[in-house]
Amino acid sequence: MANCAVIGAQWGDEGKGKIVDWLSARADVVVRFQGGHNAGHTLVIDGEVFKLSLLPSGIVREGKLSVIGNGVVIDPFAFKSEIERLGAQGVRITTVNLAVAENAALILPLHQELDGLREGAAGDSKIGTTKRGIGPAYEDKAGRRAIRVCDLRDTDSLGPKIDRLLTHHNALRVGFGVEPVDKDELLGQLKEIAGFILPFAVPVWRLLDDARRAGKRILFEGAQGVLLDVDHGTYPYVTSSNTVTGQAAGGAGVAPSQIGYVLGIVKAYTTRVGEGPFPTELLDETGQRLGERGHEFGTVTGRQRRCGWFDAALVRQSLKIAGVDGIALTKLDVLDGFEELKICTGYKIGGEVYDYLPAGMDAQAAAEPIYETLPGWSDSTVGARSWADLPAEAAKYVRRVEEMIECPVALVSTSPEREDVILVRDPFAD
Ligand code: GDP
Ligand code: IMO
Ligand code: MG
Repeated sequence: MANCAVIGAQWGDEGKGKIVDWLSARADVVVRFQGGHNAGHTLVIDGEVFKLSLLPSGIVREGKLSVIGNGVVIDPFAFKSEIERLGAQGVRITTVNLAVAENAALILPLHQELDGLREGAAGDSKIGTTKRGIGPAYEDKAGRRAIRVCDLRDTDSLGPKIDRLLTHHNALRVGFGVEPVDKDELLGQLKEIAGFILPFAVPVWRLLDDARRAGKRILFEGAQGVLLDVDHGTYPYVTSSNTVTGQAAGGAGVAPSQIGYVLGIVKAYTTRVGEGPFPTELLDETGQRLGERGHEFGTVTGRQRRCGWFDAALVRQSLKIAGVDGIALTKLDVLDGFEELKICTGYKIGGEVYDYLPAGMDAQAAAEPIYETLPGWSDSTVGARSWADLPAEAAKYVRRVEEMIECPVALVSTSPEREDVILVRDPFAD
């Protein structure tokens, strides 16, 4: 297939960045289509670590075009600092290898502040957001009062747009007991940053149409995961965008038929950052061991990730919703050395058995996992690049996962390093 979309199938941090970086060798263009700098993608290339939040994970490979689509919310100040940070690591980012959708909505300092104010006021009902202003920015986009990248071109006409935005925000700020936003200060900040971001701003829909007609291969890079999708996730403990495959079309400006092979990224166990239901969460030593072995600390906020057993019922649900053709199973190596492993096959909720997680918040919180137990393995899988390198019980674990989630494994990842991958089926193969 010409194109491929990479979608997280759990609560994010499945290892999408590593897989996108690996796949980008086969692609010409890598496109982000939703989310913002709430994402944190870690790539390890010959021992050097690269951390990306807003920029597509294709950016570290020379000769590839990276694109930030219209479905992404862009903090222009974070955009600048990420480019500068990567520049210091030797990644040259210019208008030759990066394009930004001119119709993408901006995250402004007031969004980030509001995110923090709301979380601070929410007490026990907080979401546990990354406090990057993602939710408030998407609200303003849907509320038709966002400032977009293209608006920075004509700073003289920004005044009335800012007025419209502040009518809404200053009322909210009064409610929170904080000072209203100073219009002139915001205008000044935007005028200053405009010159940095505008050279990258293009009609991305057209650039992608040209790429399609030139026979280029496009890789769509999802952020977060299906269980954080604003419709299909564990609402309200979700992010504020659609993270499912369909969003790749709307958030980049291409036809759904252009998406191609859908690769779901699935961690061999489960993690979650922030609040919300997590049926297979382990609050014991086993959970701690998974976290330590998997280095499960958030890339963006440094928070410790909650850890638990693999939840086949939830992953099966995610894969069906996202229309996944095959999965990349990541972090199999983290399971090395466990005597036995558990996989969740469904839930008990109020005395009834479910083979999926129902939508209600209370039902989700009450879900008790039903487990199947598998034998572990004592040999190492670290760095395995072929089936033959896997201990028999590890191969059986992968096969059992495949059966339970009703989806084939296309790739297995066995370390953070770029090349440590077992390739079963090339997502770009015709
Ligand atoms: P993303 O948000 O989906 O891109 O994932 P993150 O980068 O936030 O988190 C995944 C973490 O696991 C990163 O630190 C990766 O370097 C690391 N990682 C990715 N694949 C593997 C793997 O197969 N094994 C191990 N041990 N670590 C991996
Ligand atoms: P990547 O792309 C894991 C979580 C936050 C919080 C919820 C809402 O690295 O997989 P937000 O700031 O988006 O309003 O927070 O979503 N969250 C993520 N968790 N990985 C991510 O991205 C995440 N992006 C947001 O922790 O629970
Ligand atoms: Mg991450």
